[in-house]
Amino acid sequence: MEPLDALGRPLRDLRLSVTDRCNFRCPYCMPAELFGERYAFLPRPEILSFEEIERLVRLFVELGVRKLRITGGEPLIRAELPRLIERLARIDGIEDLALTSNGFLLARHAVALADAGLSRVTVSLDALDPEVFKTMSGSPHEPERVLEGIAAAADAGLGPLKINCVVQQGVNEDEVLRLAEHFRGTPHIVRFIEFMDVGTRNRWDLDRVVRAGDIVERIGQRYPLEPLDANYPGEVARRYRYADGQGEVGVIASVTQPFCRGCTRARVTAEGRLVTCLFSDAGVDLKGPLRDGRSDEAVRDIVRGVWSTRSDRYSEERAGVGGPVRSGRRIEMYQVGG
Ligand code: GTP
Ligand code: 5AD
Ligand code: SF4
Ligand code: SF4
Repeated sequence: MEPLDALGRPLRDLRLSVTDRCNFRCPYCMPAELFGERYAFLPRPEILSFEEIERLVRLFVELGVRKLRITGGEPLIRAELPRLIERLARIDGIEDLALTSNGFLLARHAVALADAGLSRVTVSLDALDPEVFKTMSGSPHEPERVLEGIAAAADAGLGPLKINCVVQQGVNEDEVLRLAEHFRGTPHIVRFIEFMDVGTRNRWDLDRVVRAGDIVERIGQRYPLEPLDANYPGEVARRYRYADGQGEVGVIASVTQPFCRGCTRARVTAEGRLVTCLFSDAGVDLKGPLRDGRSDEAVRDIVRGVWSTRSDRYSEERAGVGGPVRSGRRIEMYQVGG
């Protein structure tokens, strides 16, 4: 039996983090001053092996998961990732196997990922202006390299791509129109994301959020937009098409228009913790049970039990009170990959 949570929501999507490391230091996720050279990321033995991941994904599929997204940190840092993709692509029941990447290593791996059976890639790109890109990514790199990754992924058959842009007031708002214009007329879809208060380290403040409504208005003034229906129930992005047929853009308004009602997403961290909301605390350990000889049924029952009692609706609660709802321990973005 496929479980429903306490609010009647089924388990349909799994977002699986394969590493907590990243080659960028986006200040809204992994600020460089806190994640320096000596930061202790997870040691190798603490990270789920490909065998453990495959076993776990099969159990999640039995509980209803149809869509699998590989995340990080930066997933392409995980050694031999295409070998994992190959194993996961073979699992019956997975209808969509996607990857969210910062694009830096994508040109190098695109063909291997496509050959392994990956369905599609989503690339984060917050700016086209080189200086703003450096600020948003906390890295010395050029956005050109990410654009090359996007082109390579499209050539390898992993497109059309979605391009994610987190928008921060006073930092990259001027990039909104630039990015929209850059990808207008291509099959790729840029989605502008409201800056969220995930974790405890990004100094989130409502004043730094650019409202999705304002983003749509800004693009629409230049290029008229028409709303589109969601592709599937519970889609996080609101979709718009250019009235002149030049493509599609989207906004992800988790701060101003939360979408918890349709939230069918579970997350598993690289060290095998089950997290049922982006704003959860530490999550529930699955690695111990996976490693101490328990049966598939026993591990599946742990997941079922956690999902059945889940009542998360953090973003809706936050919207109700106008600011962060919880302080204290929270999972970090680089641990759950969004
Ligand atoms: P597709 O619709 O399958 O293409 O993917 P997606 O938009 O669900 O995933 P993606 O990794 O591209 O995430 C886009 C943004 O939405 C990121 O900033 C995520 O953190 C955010 N997001 C995804 N799922 C949730 C969720 O359940 N809750 C909240 N609050 N944000 C989410
Ligand atoms: N708010 C909104 N989106 C974020 N992401 C990372 N941190 C945040 C945040 N605080 C985005 C990344 C990536 C996606 C998985 O989540 O840019 O595109
Ligand atoms: Fe890395 Fe993505 Fe976090 Fe940026 S948002 S530091 S690219 S994991
Ligand atoms: Fe789901 Fe939590 Fe995001 Fe709401 S805030 S959509 S419950 S992950």
